[in-house]
Amino acid sequence: MKLLKVLVVLIFLLLAPCKTAARICLKKKLRVQNLLKCLDKPPHKSIKSPDGDIIDCIPISCQPAFDHPLLQNHKIQLVPSYHPDGPFDEQRGNSLKSSEGLKPITQLWRLNGNCDEGTIPVRRTKREDVLRHGSTKIFGKKKKKINVLRSNSTEDQHDLDTQYEHQHATAFVNEDNYFGTQANINVWKPKVQQPNEFSVSQIWIAAGSIGAGDLNTIEAGWMVSQELFGDNNTRLFTFWTRDAYKSTGCYNLRCSAFIHISKYVALGATLIPVSSYNGAQYDIVILIWKDPNDGNWWMRYNNENIGYWPASLFTNLDDGATYIVWGGEVVNVASGGQHTTTQMGSGNFPGEEYKKASYFRNIQVVDGSNQLRDAKDVKTLTEQSSCYDIQTGKNGQWGTYFYYGGPGRNPKCP
Ligand SMILES: *[C@@H]1O[C@H](CO)[C@@H](O)[C@H](O)[C@H]1NC(C)=O
Ligand SMILES: *[C@@H]1O[C@H](CO)[C@@H](O)[C@H](O)[C@H]1NC(C)=O
Repeated sequence: MKLLKVLVVLIFLLLAPCKTAARICLKKKLRVQNLLKCLDKPPHKSIKSPDGDIIDCIPISCQPAFDHPLLQNHKIQLVPSYHPDGPFDEQRGNSLKSSEGLKPITQLWRLNGNCDEGTIPVRRTKREDVLRHGSTKIFGKKKKKINVLRSNSTEDQHDLDTQYEHQHATAFVNEDNYFGTQANINVWKPKVQQPNEFSVSQIWIAAGSIGAGDLNTIEAGWMVSQELFGDNNTRLFTFWTRDAYKSTGCYNLRCSAFIHISKYVALGATLIPVSSYNGAQYDIVILIWKDPNDGNWWMRYNNENIGYWPASLFTNLDDGATYIVWGGEVVNVASGGQHTTTQMGSGNFPGEEYKKASYFRNIQVVDGSNQLRDAKDVKTLTEQSSCYDIQTGKNGQWGTYFYYGGPGRNPKCP
């Protein structure tokens, strides 16, 4: 009976006509008001989160992705056709939770309600969110290139010199073709010195190069960014591009691309609680994999399938990723000529280890036979280890892991 009811509601919502505001999206010149109409579909129900966010529950078939010309006839997939298994499944994560005091994490808005079956939670874009960016054109996009996937071309180096410096403490693999990755990411709330800086802890899945302008990436993790979200909360995010951040790609659902399925998890929403120094630790599990049957790239967060990036968005990623990167990135504006005090991870150096330094653990890759395997031949990158550092390790319980991060400015990082 209950199942029948759910099905009826689902079918109704799938067939419900979307309001035509979406079409405005296709016009070349967007004004703030139009952009808001486009991004914020008429909600089925709205939930006010304690952090001031409004979460709109919108019918799954009215989501922003379907404004994309390539996706207008796209048939939504409600479940992936394949899910990779591996030695470090969620079971293992759970046993760790009880033995090491790890507790489950949730999203703040869930304290105040839930979205109904057939609808998805979408963080409402407010006028202030758009205005903070100064332009509707770059709203939700990355303003600067990341240099984590550094190429050797002098042209790239020149571009990077004219931008604010991005600093990393990352681990990466680049010696195979990869069809996904999974990791547990420790969740903290690093201090970010000023609004035009941010601190992220994330996964990058990449193919192509910045030099050739054809870098494809899929990115997910948590971040603190006043510019994007208007506060200093730790938020779940995703990002993608297929042209090295030039004109395609965006965060979360801010452009038409990612097809969201889950009614429980909103992209861009605040995560609670966060870990505390020498206290309770929290981590999230992110799994991203390429469905071998239709080529879509799925994202699973803890035990929930969040949705997917349709295969048609990408070029180089069609044959799998050639790089997988895990770790932290901050922007160092170097205001006043000094290194920023923006923290990465927990704000503590890797040497402090568990409950003090932030970690990634059970780091795995999806191989050519679509199996999850412990990541091997992991290399590291950090521009200035006296500001932010990384230390990898391996043991029976955590598989491949690393501690990373740091405080930014300190006597050795002036
Ligand atoms: C960049 O240069 C390094 C050393 O100079 C070399 O090992 C690496 O393969 C080069 N990378 C690319 C993408 O050409
Ligand atoms: C975010 O943190 C910065 C630096 O600690 C602080 O100056 C700013 O007021 C905070 N912003 C909000 C909205 O809490």
